[in-house]
Amino acid sequence: MADLKLGVLISGRGTNLQALIDALARPAYPARVALVISNEPGALGLKRAESAGIPTQIIDHRDFEDGAGFDGTLDGALRHAGVELVCLAGFMRVLSPGFVERWHDKVINIHPSLLPSFTGLEAQGQALAAGVRIAGCTVHFVRASVDSGPIIVQAAVPVLPDDDAERLAARVLKQEHRIYPMAVRWFLEDKITLTDERVDIKCKQHFPEPVISPGDAA
Ligand code: GRF
Repeated sequence: MADLKLGVLISGRGTNLQALIDALARPAYPARVALVISNEPGALGLKRAESAGIPTQIIDHRDFEDGAGFDGTLDGALRHAGVELVCLAGFMRVLSPGFVERWHDKVINIHPSLLPSFTGLEAQGQALAAGVRIAGCTVHFVRASVDSGPIIVQAAVPVLPDDDAERLAARVLKQEHRIYPMAVRWFLEDKITLTDERVDIKCKQHFPEPVISPGDAA
């Protein structure tokens, strides 16, 4: 089977991009990142891609009069590189409905909350403000409204008493780096089935242990 070509869209430090690059470097992982696009010229993730020998492109949204022009250029670059799956990894722009439609079921995103809770910015701060005891992250197919779409995989972590948004984000981020490569692997192994906007995964193993938070009261 030919390697599946991924396009990764970023805006910032790119630790999820790095997790994908590292996972794809393992043998028996028939995919490669064909192109990394950033809308932010200074994004650290661009350096990560360059160090891994991956082609990069800066498409700065500020150079376009409207979202359609920006998305059209993104679309052209991805197609030119032969991209088959687009991974949003800290990409801070909202894609137009037209783009999402053209790439239907071919764009996935990672979001630092247990969706459908806490969409949008500062998801971990929102979780703390709501007083939830369990937080987490989600990989999902992208639909037109922000942080929505069929859920592929989630990981849950406890919220601890001394958490601030930064500490919680770090705990969640570790799990992001685990589940994003898993979702990509399932995609390329054809293990993901979508029916009526719900995902089914052919799963070898389930982890039945619950995450209970808080633990025992003193
Ligand atoms: C991650 O928390 C991701 O879930 C969110 O933006 C952040 C990007 O981090 N969409 P990084 O650039 O991958 O380090």
